[in-house]
Amino acid sequence: MNPLPGAILVRGSILHFLADPGPEDDSSAWQYFEDGGLLVQDGLVSACGNWNDVLATLPELSRDAARYLDYRGKLILPGFVDSHVHYPQMRVMGSFGRQLLDWLEDYTFPAEASFADRAVAEQTASFFLDRLLAHGTTTASVFATVHPHSVDAFFEAAEARNVRMLCGKVLMDRNCPDDLRDDPQSAWADSRSLIERWHGKGRQRYSVTPRFAPTSTEAQLKVAGDLFASAPDLHLQSHLSENQREVAWVGELFPGRKNYLDVYAHFGLIGARSIYGHGIHLDAGELARMAETGTAIAFCPSSNLFLGSGFFHYRAVSAAGVPVGLASDVGGGNSLSSLRSMAAAYMISQAQHHALSPWRAWYLASLGGARALSLDTFIGNFTPGKEADFVVLDAAPIPELAFRWSFADSLADRLFALMMLGDERCVAATHVMGQCVHKQAA
Ligand code: GUN
Ligand code: ZN
Repeated sequence: MNPLPGAILVRGSILHFLADPGPEDDSSAWQYFEDGGLLVQDGLVSACGNWNDVLATLPELSRDAARYLDYRGKLILPGFVDSHVHYPQMRVMGSFGRQLLDWLEDYTFPAEASFADRAVAEQTASFFLDRLLAHGTTTASVFATVHPHSVDAFFEAAEARNVRMLCGKVLMDRNCPDDLRDDPQSAWADSRSLIERWHGKGRQRYSVTPRFAPTSTEAQLKVAGDLFASAPDLHLQSHLSENQREVAWVGELFPGRKNYLDVYAHFGLIGARSIYGHGIHLDAGELARMAETGTAIAFCPSSNLFLGSGFFHYRAVSAAGVPVGLASDVGGGNSLSSLRSMAAAYMISQAQHHALSPWRAWYLASLGGARALSLDTFIGNFTPGKEADFVVLDAAPIPELAFRWSFADSLADRLFALMMLGDERCVAATHVMGQCVHKQAA
């Protein structure tokens, strides 16, 4: 009998984070094993360290029985976490020339309206998840559309791939086209039945998803708060303070509230397991309240540049103690690649005369995202017991990157070059609970 059924031994250079390296790049925040080993048992990490040490934890019999994956010469990291993305917007990625509110009207709402057809939702969900895995992303916080079947289609496709995902039905009962409008009663009933169907099923979890304050009435925001409190461990996702016109509009729609965050706070929509996309134009009071309540921000750098929304103040926001994850925000963002998100994050920080270090950027794309989504008990690094989702990265497919690497003299330099010059071509393989779900074509 095999004493370790299903054991997988992975060999390669391994990097993972145990904590936020912070502004000083605290080196106790990460572990790097040049000749590293990852032992996976029944889909979970059972050991991670130097190859010889990991091997020594296994009796000889089990070594012979284990499956052996040789990724020497490549970099193995926890799967990327995309902390804010819209799967129905795949069809409008890269649409020309608008800022947020016009872009929503002209491109996003028509794309989402096409999801009235369940077949469109099913095809897009499969395409989206396959592409996410091809980009090395194994967990995401995903907006569906207002149609409940868009959530069913997504979770069915996610379950089939055994990936850990958050998703929810968009709640939207005003300031939107009639064919995308729900109402407080249907928002409650539809969300409740989706929660019962999907929350905690396999690796899936439900995220209550009011689109943003301008597209919900007060009655619907109240329903959203009741939904968020209606079952243990539910998540919540929305948008906050992305664009100056949007912020001014929220002020007009909710004159009784102190600021944008206060609208959400008033309806019980902040706190543990809540995450808001963007958070660019927040004041110190809003930041302090987010930090106190553990309300997270998804930093969406490509989208913020693409839609001309502004520069997210990562240094100040993280110093205030607000949890931050990295996100593509496709279709506002123009790539699913976390490497490209890291590059955009770096350039946004440079524009504010602050250089985002490679350590923090790589943290943001892995453990930082898992923490911001309150999923770090399951994913985000390779401590024993975590789900063994990992990405294998290779510089070779991009000649400029490979050339640059041949002159790099430190891990920090290699990581920085990889995030600035790399993209999905660098993803040699993606594994979910130890199993290979994507391999770069030879
Ligand atoms: N604010 C409200 N809805 C959206 C959306 O779909 N994308 C972005 N980037 N911002 C939003
Ligand atoms: Zn968004």
